[in-house]
Amino acid sequence: MKILLTGAAGFIGTHIGRIARERGHEVVGLDAYLEAAHGPDVAPDPAIVRRDLRTHDVDDLLEGIDVVCHQAAMVGNGVDAQDLPAYAENNDAATARLLAAMARAGVGDLVMASSMVVYGDGRYTCPTDGDVPPAVRRDDDLEAGRYDPRCPVCGGDITWREIDEDTTFLPRTSYAASKVAQEHYASAWCTLQSGRAVALRYHNVYGPGMPADTPYSGVAAIFRSAIARGEAPRVFEDGRQVRDFVHVHDVARANVLAIEQVTSHPVGLTAYNVASGHTFTIGEMAATLSRAAGGEAPVLTGDYRRFDVRHVVASPAAAREGLGFTAEVAPHDGLARLAHDPLRTR
Ligand code: UD1
Repeated sequence: MKILLTGAAGFIGTHIGRIARERGHEVVGLDAYLEAAHGPDVAPDPAIVRRDLRTHDVDDLLEGIDVVCHQAAMVGNGVDAQDLPAYAENNDAATARLLAAMARAGVGDLVMASSMVVYGDGRYTCPTDGDVPPAVRRDDDLEAGRYDPRCPVCGGDITWREIDEDTTFLPRTSYAASKVAQEHYASAWCTLQSGRAVALRYHNVYGPGMPADTPYSGVAAIFRSAIARGEAPRVFEDGRQVRDFVHVHDVARANVLAIEQVTSHPVGLTAYNVASGHTFTIGEMAATLSRAAGGEAPVLTGDYRRFDVRHVVASPAAAREGLGFTAEVAPHDGLARLAHDPLRTR
């Protein structure tokens, strides 16, 4: 197949390009080389077209393309409300332009990067009130070191449950809002064009080539960078918050499987969680990395961030059934390897 891969120079895009080529596909790579991701002194790969989807059309690059794999995005949680326009422009306006160009070129198949952040706080079970979204965590609870959210109905204790793809969207950050909007734009494009879109909702992605610590980095990059500086990872809350860490190799495999099977999907947008299927607490993750690196033991700081969600764990069942995807890298192995994997420095 001939694939247009946006974000081809990025952390995940690099791995997708490599695996797609290994499987015999032709890949046209496109990247804006944004300074926020690549730094000011980037040496662009001559094999990748440098173009910014916010301001430039890609009609010429879409000639003969079977599937667009759209990874280009501004990532991270965002620092504050001043980031809102940049997320809207890079993730939503740019996607809308890309979709319009695909319609002009008659390209009807899309695979796109989405995120588990669309689910916000996830879903919980209350012994009294059943399946509930959690109440927003209260400042007095957080101050008192009660980090688990309460039932929105009775205020009692609740336990987290696996999220499936039908879970209601509850975006809490600028980035999350932009990913929800991106899925909605893709869905509208499917309706208008009889197109097919597969949205892959990534969980916490890590692995070689991960960007080093920036204000927009996720926790794995932050801890790995701290260890490289000889510092202890600083674990927030009580370290018992749960995530699913999925290796970039598996995320790239999921994309290539989706590219190869998008035409067997119905018209419209189909979403899949892309997760390892193993849960890990942030405290365990920090300890695994430190041990593997022979670095400083993690420090529990008791700090918290108001925008953080407490536990997010997805069911990997739909991706297994719809794409034949199961993760190959167990987080214990992958996270131990991350201690020595090279990071991308800007
Ligand atoms: C992360 C990504 C999000 C992505 C999602 C799924 C970032 C900033 N967040 O969300 O963009 O869509 O995974 O791939 O890239 N923590 C610490 N110490 C720190 C930093 C964080 O203990 O120094 C804790 C936080 O309190 C939180 C957990 O680690 O409980 C995860 O934080 P983080 O990786 O920032 O955000 P996610 O919500 O997991």
